[in-house]
Amino acid sequence: MPFQFIFLQFVTRPASRQADEINRLFNFFNIAAAGMLLLVIGLVIYICVKFRSKTDDPAEKQGKKNGKLEALMIGGPALLVLFFLYETITTMAAVAPAVDLSKATPDIIITAHQWWWEAEYPHDKVFTANEIHLPAGRPLLMEMRSADVIHDWWVPELGNKIDMVPGMNNYLSLFIKQPGKYSGTCSEFCGAEHAWMRIRVVAETDEDFHHWIDSNKTAAKFPVDSLALTGEKLFMEKTCVNCHRIAGTEAAGIAGPDLTHVSARRELLTGILINNEANLFNWINHPQQIKPAAKMPELIMDRDSIKAIAHYLAGLN
Ligand code: CUA
Repeated sequence: MPFQFIFLQFVTRPASRQADEINRLFNFFNIAAAGMLLLVIGLVIYICVKFRSKTDDPAEKQGKKNGKLEALMIGGPALLVLFFLYETITTMAAVAPAVDLSKATPDIIITAHQWWWEAEYPHDKVFTANEIHLPAGRPLLMEMRSADVIHDWWVPELGNKIDMVPGMNNYLSLFIKQPGKYSGTCSEFCGAEHAWMRIRVVAETDEDFHHWIDSNKTAAKFPVDSLALTGEKLFMEKTCVNCHRIAGTEAAGIAGPDLTHVSARRELLTGILINNEANLFNWINHPQQIKPAAKMPELIMDRDSIKAIAHYLAGLN
């Protein structure tokens, strides 16, 4: 089975304005810490050499009280800590500004599920899963929800983490600088498949993004060959429709990923499998072997039926 393991994430390659801020603070702390380390080591060496004891008399060894030096040793680090605090607070304010929801509506709503990501574009009534398309070059407000347990969204190149907590909406401000593909992972342990709860962000130019939205707004193009028609019939008759939605059909379940344009996605199951007909078959045939404990149940169905369903899904574009 062609599992995909290449999934690089970069903390030090900021691709959003928010990540720039975090990276700036990170570099500042690193340089300051390195400077302090060198200063302390230098002083220790200097003191060892300069003030090494030349006498065995304990009274003379004690040294003299130096009030100014003590004040400097306490006041200096205290001022430095206050400066670090100031830098941290200003970075936090830049990365996660207060959101006035009476003025701003979210551009995208991400809902975390065990173990996949649902994306809704409320302005356009578009739904997708796992491969999340976002426009670059403009500010975005993302509403972050959870459908079950606590998850945590983190795409390192795009900046800060944010918890997704059941019953509570959190908000993420994002300004992606460049179109590109950015990877992330759920960063809060959320159950058996936590490690496979991966994120793919596809950041596009405004034009490409609107093109994607337009193509996802419409119902899927349905495949019409006889195998696909058999698959469609099975999909609608079996339990698939209880959990999955395919716009333009009677399938309207919301417990599992929206499958309206499923074949347009590059990967399945948050990056576990490459999206093709063979892997759709593998998944439907034995979901619990591929993603144990996922909500997708092992179906009691013959191979020909599963083949037909996989063929139908692979044609949904
Ligand atoms: Cu979702 Cu860890």
